[in-house]
Amino acid sequence: MLSGKRILLIIGGGIAAYKTLDLIRRLRERGAAVTPVLTRAGAEFVTPLSVSALAGHKVHTDLFDLTEEAEMGHIQLSRSADLVVVAPATADLMAKMAHGHANDLASTLLMATDTPVLIAPAMNVRMWDHPATQRNLAQLLSDGLRVVGPNPGDMACGEYGPGRMSEPLEIVAAIESALGQGPLTGKHILVTSGPTHEPIDPVRYIANRSSGAQGAAIARALAGLGADVTFVTGPADVPPPAGVKVLRIETAQQMLQAVEDALPADAAIFAAAVADWRVASASGSKIKKDAGRLPVLEFAENPDILATVSQRKTLRPSLVVGFAAETDDVVAHATAKRARKGCDWIMANDVSPATGIMGGTENAVHLITAEGVEDWPRMSKQAVAERLADRIAAALR
Ligand code: C5P
Repeated sequence: MLSGKRILLIIGGGIAAYKTLDLIRRLRERGAAVTPVLTRAGAEFVTPLSVSALAGHKVHTDLFDLTEEAEMGHIQLSRSADLVVVAPATADLMAKMAHGHANDLASTLLMATDTPVLIAPAMNVRMWDHPATQRNLAQLLSDGLRVVGPNPGDMACGEYGPGRMSEPLEIVAAIESALGQGPLTGKHILVTSGPTHEPIDPVRYIANRSSGAQGAAIARALAGLGADVTFVTGPADVPPPAGVKVLRIETAQQMLQAVEDALPADAAIFAAAVADWRVASASGSKIKKDAGRLPVLEFAENPDILATVSQRKTLRPSLVVGFAAETDDVVAHATAKRARKGCDWIMANDVSPATGIMGGTENAVHLITAEGVEDWPRMSKQAVAERLADRIAAALR
């Protein structure tokens, strides 16, 4: 609940601004008071009338408005909230914030405020991936701003990728967690993700097809519920979500070390596709092509990180979740795996090539617990992540 909480809501100029209208409703339903600020570009997408009618509050638009300054100066406005929320946070607004511009009401409020700020970025995927935006994001995170999203998906411009503004309820959850009210606030959760790369020599390695999409979605969903997330990732295709602590590794052995160093944790989710074997003695120099002679690689077994953490006598997280990617007898293999590894839950999925799940955007999982097996319908990896995060929050309550 957000009763009595005051949100200063800055609406930037992007197509996602229409979702912000619903966000206002959701916040008010939960008892929050919303003071809206509409940028000039924002007013091209939603009207001041709809914003103020939904907020039940006058909408502020102009820095140089004498009446407004007489009623409530912009400095006072910037300090009159428990949280400042920017949704959608466009590439331009993020750049202004990162560089400290103050040339309109929204950017001036953001410079003058002494309250925490949460941004919900939304923009074209190329703009999001652009080094300038990523530099600005890194700056904003190091300045202590909180970020929710963006989510991967279809974009209004017809492209696909990260850039969609989080859905209103995800933003509500992020607001609750920013105000110390998320169901996972105060919990430390470890997530492993992505493939590992096992070197053959300095230029060659053994890898697998994991994109890291499911692990990144889980970390994002957990952070959205207020968890303090440590994200240990191999070289994945998808970038790690904003707002989590990222530890980048390459090999299984490095992943185990990073995981053990990150303990204690309340829960650990092992979504990484860890290589089972490594090359026993990787060559220190590039193996040369030698006419007629083929190199022979000898393998050594990698540590099983999930089993090692599940079977720890000390510092075992109270909830350990593993994944089982199978191509046949999915549930039977996964149930046996749960017992063998000693974890609490297994998320099992069918990764036969025909399913398109490995590297795809959807997943169809079975959740295997001590109580039995739940079959979840096929849904986006983000939706799987949110459902799992809700279950984790319930289990850690
Ligand atoms: O044994 P298998 O690789 O099928 O088990 C999958 C589960 O175990 C996943 O949760 C994966 O992250 C984890 N795992 C691990 N370390 C390994 C191999 C798998 O943590 N070396």
